Amino acid sequence: MNDRPIAVFDSGVGGLPYLQSLREYAPNEYFVYLADRANFPYGEKSDKELRQIIVESVGRFIEATDPKLMLIACNTASVVALEALRERFSIPFIGVVPAIKPAAETSARRSIGVLATRRTVEDPYTEELISRYASDCRVIRYAGVEIVELVELNYFTTSEGEKIEVLKPAVEYFKSEEVDTLVVGCTHFIFVEELLQHMLDGSAKVIDSRRGVAQQTLRILEQESISRFGQPQPESGRLFVSGNGLDQAAEQRYRSFSRLYELEWSGVL
Ligand code: DGL
Repeated sequence: MNDRPIAVFDSGVGGLPYLQSLREYAPNEYFVYLADRANFPYGEKSDKELRQIIVESVGRFIEATDPKLMLIACNTASVVALEALRERFSIPFIGVVPAIKPAAETSARRSIGVLATRRTVEDPYTEELISRYASDCRVIRYAGVEIVELVELNYFTTSEGEKIEVLKPAVEYFKSEEVDTLVVGCTHFIFVEELLQHMLDGSAKVIDSRRGVAQQTLRILEQESISRFGQPQPESGRLFVSGNGLDQAAEQRYRSFSRLYELEWSGVL
């Protein structure tokens, strides 16, 4: 029995669908979420710079909320910094990495697409995942920089037609390369996953890692005997954002995301 919260971390709002999925598997738990918006976007930074930023931000988050476990709900942060985080802090960390293994298990044409940030697409960790689990597949990668920004900065103000325009180049590319399985390798893209699936028009199946990550988190909670028992939490979490200079429009946006995911707005950490 452990009443400390489960922490969920991302460069912005991308980790929220992962929190939601975890909440469904573990309704007794209390969650704290940090959107490291002061350092957004992660995907355009170098691995060295990112590692330093992430270790610092996660350190502040741990100090403020004393979590029993942390989910790094960001592919970019996981591929570059998971090892450094495990070396530096004593709580268990769970990472989110592109679902290349499950994709290789299902791709009939042995042709997989990975839609992620530039950092994730280029990182040696992704190369390693491919050579370990999908060495007999063609793996076509696309860096969806403008999709990350669409979700983080303009999600509530963009029409479906505008979202389609932003997604189109990626969708056309994957269609022309004839992939039959598309890995959503950036947590922000979960917000447009249904639209992506629709736009692919049956040419590829879109997959992400939410279920696997939630199941892995449950395993760690059990292994470490740190689950929280009792009644499901009515108010099941809080959302923090990082950094100064949060203007009014940005605050309204993060408040809207916190309402959408039924998290208490907790302001700047
Ligand atoms: N949500 C993040 C991921 O899964 C990264 C977005 C960013 O570039 O900050 O990769």
